[in-house]
Amino acid sequence: MFEVGQKVDAQIESLAFQGHGIAKPQGFTVFVPRGAPLDHAQIEITNVKKHFAFGTLAKIVTPSPHRATPPCTYFDRCGGCHYQHLQPELVEQEKRKQINDTFMRMGPGTIDLSAFEYGPSSWGYRNRITIRRDQGKQGFVAWDDFETLDIETCLIANSEINLAWKEIKPSISTINSKVLPFVMLRKIQNQIAVIFSVTKDFNKDELTKRFANLPYLFYTTTIKEGSPIAIGKDLNPLFNNPIYLEENVGDITYIVRPDLFFQTNIEVANKMVQFVCDALQTETDFILDMFCGSGLFSIALAKQQKRVLGVEVQHEAIQCAKQSAILNGVDEHATFRTGKAERILERLYKEGARFSHMIVDPPRRGLEENFLSWIPKLETKKLIYISCSPPTIARDAKILEKHGYILEKITPFEMFPWTYHIELGAVFTKKA
Ligand SMILES: C[S@@+](CC[C@H](N)C(=O)[O-])C[C@H]1O[C@@H](n2cnc3c(N)ncnc32)[C@H](O)[C@@H]1O
Repeated sequence: MFEVGQKVDAQIESLAFQGHGIAKPQGFTVFVPRGAPLDHAQIEITNVKKHFAFGTLAKIVTPSPHRATPPCTYFDRCGGCHYQHLQPELVEQEKRKQINDTFMRMGPGTIDLSAFEYGPSSWGYRNRITIRRDQGKQGFVAWDDFETLDIETCLIANSEINLAWKEIKPSISTINSKVLPFVMLRKIQNQIAVIFSVTKDFNKDELTKRFANLPYLFYTTTIKEGSPIAIGKDLNPLFNNPIYLEENVGDITYIVRPDLFFQTNIEVANKMVQFVCDALQTETDFILDMFCGSGLFSIALAKQQKRVLGVEVQHEAIQCAKQSAILNGVDEHATFRTGKAERILERLYKEGARFSHMIVDPPRRGLEENFLSWIPKLETKKLIYISCSPPTIARDAKILEKHGYILEKITPFEMFPWTYHIELGAVFTKKA
């Protein structure tokens, strides 16, 4: 159909799930990064597959009325944001459309999306960034060629993280990136934690002598040379920094570790906690919180006098959750188990436990069929499903429907403004 290097005139029609514009010259789908719906453009074809192609905006002939000027100077190349060139109203409209289309295509069909929940600001919301260091550059990965871009500041990251990065960046610029490939910066309450990912033979004196006078909490974690994963299994304070820190979500204080998952946008996470608590407001039975992490939902529910069992595969996160329960005086209401969700569900069933209410907040891959088949066996009447992946929750909703669960409510949360990411909260109830 098309050839690489060929230029075609077309209009961008909509946005694909991963943020690219979609054009259909001669009826053939071409994905165009940074294309805005209603742009009339000349598109240069860069890659041709059997059923679709990729192209770049060679020239915007007539710009879309939905276009905006990206405030970030790195936006052209940085892979962190996808939609700074669009008006926010259009982004919401497109995200709604993508969720609806996904549920039509992969899920149980038409859905009734309720309010889109936003945080107070779409800038400075990230409490965590991961810097990649590569060939003298220190920053984020470019969306177009995966090269590392040198970054001084990030507009979606918290301002104190940016300040800390400005101070730290020049001090490590001479350290070989092979032995120190990543730096993670996290704002936890009013402290900044900095984790250096280093290889086994790295001499930590290189860091201690540089950072003794900065007011941040410094750690190292050990990774293999060439590993794409920034966090290793260990967390070693460089000075006498604590491993367990306190973070506030709404009026609840949680114990967290800088190397473990915790929600990135605290204000929107708080809205998600409210969503879960509201959905379970009148419930008095035992609640099962699967994939509970450091206990975000479990502790909030226990503070409302609910009895909760949290399940999580990471032992260290369960340690945080248990400490949070003690800190909040709810350790009699919130208990926790470490293990794989699928196995624990089966074990709980065999032990005779039944849970009329369940929360699931799985990773992007969603729930296994086996897991889904345990839910009705545990006599669950109401299921709250938190998802960061519309395709997997849509797929799982279809399976849940076969098990007799009806999707009652689904709410998008704008957890990551300016990006294509979509977070969803859904409530399912079992047909009588
Ligand atoms: C999206 S996070 C949610 C954590 C928590 N609900 C929160 O909001 O902070 C998913 C969690 O599932 C855990 N996880 C991943 N695979 C798991 C499995 N097979 N069994 C249990 N937990 C798992 C991860 O360690 C992670 O903490």
